[in-house]
Amino acid sequence: MKRSVLCGAVTLVLACAAFAADPVRLPEPAKNGGAALLDCLSARRAGRVFSGKALSGQELSDLLWATGGVSSGDGKLTYPTAQDVRDIVIYVFTESGVSRYDAGANALVPVLSGDHRGETGKQPFAANASVDLVYVQDRSCWSRTKTPPEAIVQLGYAHAGAAAQNASLFAAAKGWSSVVRGSVDRAGVARLLGLSDTQHVLLAHSIGPRP
Ligand SMILES: Cc1cc2nc3c(=O)[nH]c(=O)nc-3n(C[C@H](O)[C@H](O)[C@H](O)COP(=O)(O)O)c2cc1C
Repeated sequence: MKRSVLCGAVTLVLACAAFAADPVRLPEPAKNGGAALLDCLSARRAGRVFSGKALSGQELSDLLWATGGVSSGDGKLTYPTAQDVRDIVIYVFTESGVSRYDAGANALVPVLSGDHRGETGKQPFAANASVDLVYVQDRSCWSRTKTPPEAIVQLGYAHAGAAAQNASLFAAAKGWSSVVRGSVDRAGVARLLGLSDTQHVLLAHSIGPRP
């Protein structure tokens, strides 16, 4: 049974989540307004210095929706995928725990409690970002297509890159730091998350306010 909880702070959201198997609903994300697109493009830069401040539930919801939320009645997303396959799963690492973003339900599905941000890669700043997103491709989404395996891998990176650019532009709009990371402990994160053989860690993304 889904719980409908609107927590003010993400620490609270994930503290709740860490001890409950049920998804935790996020606040309704803002889907319009914000900074002008061209200003965001001008401002976007890789940034690796973070305050470590926890995001509010609203900030996290807005970030996740911009990154890969549902933006149409038929479930299509804020970034495109080849054959509309929607094969990217976004994991959200914060100070309080790890969750999976359920875009359709606008909810966080708890995966692990505790702070695992530093386990996403070797670069020390990852442990101090408000959020580390990890983009995972679920290749089982392609099972009903005739797409060759090497193309599936390439398309997964294209999809993750498109979602990551959404997140980077959102961060730029907020004046936050953000850096996409190819340097991610793929095997370690897969073990930590208990991923199956069809689920592959592609990229990580450290995001959050500057000091
Ligand atoms: C796919 C991809 C992987 C990257 N991997 C890392 C990384 O592992 N660590 C890091 O510090 N920066 C990483 N970066 C950031 C780049 O170094 C940065 O984007 C580049 O220097 C250009 O700077 P700009 O983003 O400010 O334009 C990555 C960027 C991309 C697009």
